[in-house]
Amino acid sequence: MRLRKKPWMAKALAEYLGKEIIAEDIDKNKGKWQELVGGKSLALEIGCGKGKFINGMAQLYPEMGFVGIETQLDICYYPARQVRENKLTNVKIIGGDAAYLTQWFLPGEVKMIYLNFSDPWPKARHSKRRLTYRDFLLQYKTILAPGGHLRFKTDNKDLFDFSVEEFKAFGLQIIALSYDLHNSEYENAVQTEYEEKFSAKGNKINFCEVVF
Ligand SMILES: C[S@@+](CC[C@H](N)C(=O)[O-])C[C@H]1O[C@@H](n2cnc3c(N)ncnc32)[C@H](O)[C@@H]1O
Repeated sequence: MRLRKKPWMAKALAEYLGKEIIAEDIDKNKGKWQELVGGKSLALEIGCGKGKFINGMAQLYPEMGFVGIETQLDICYYPARQVRENKLTNVKIIGGDAAYLTQWFLPGEVKMIYLNFSDPWPKARHSKRRLTYRDFLLQYKTILAPGGHLRFKTDNKDLFDFSVEEFKAFGLQIIALSYDLHNSEYENAVQTEYEEKFSAKGNKINFCEVVF
């Protein structure tokens, strides 16, 4: 997702930094995320973009705590604004790169990870940047509680096929798989911004859920 530089953004963002958005000393919350967002268990969305999914999920499941991670600070403004407008106390947005997950979360601190329409990085030489590359899976394994789940959806078939192969190579148990989520038996409570955009164009949505 690319945003054009907006002159008003720095001031708008400042309203949320250190409140709904955590972008500094992120590791100081290690082991305390659940306390910070409340909830019986902690779910992450990595690459939350403008935040329709994480806000929708937080409203639908108030008993759970949610942390969105978004590497582009300017984009963090959008989910944070929704969190404030919706008066949600069970969501925080981390402004940072998921490459540092194990510095921010204790082993076993997270119950569920959502990856929605992750950047595909189509060139083979960039494959290590894909959020389903095995180095990322290793980080997810560290921070997830034993038996924790990862749910992944994308319209990008190449990224999906690559990811399913990575899940298998990593020895993860695949408990759900669909090449057409919207016409499947699987629950899909909240659609993301990208999901709405690409399914409206007729793209099929691929979905996979694995257990660590
Ligand atoms: C294609 S957008 C999808 C946004 C949203 N999940 C959706 O489905 O509408 C991917 C988002 O992931 C973010 N992202 C990519 N790599 C990331 C990383 N390593 N850590 C955190 N966010 C990342 C990008 O900045 C972008 O906003």
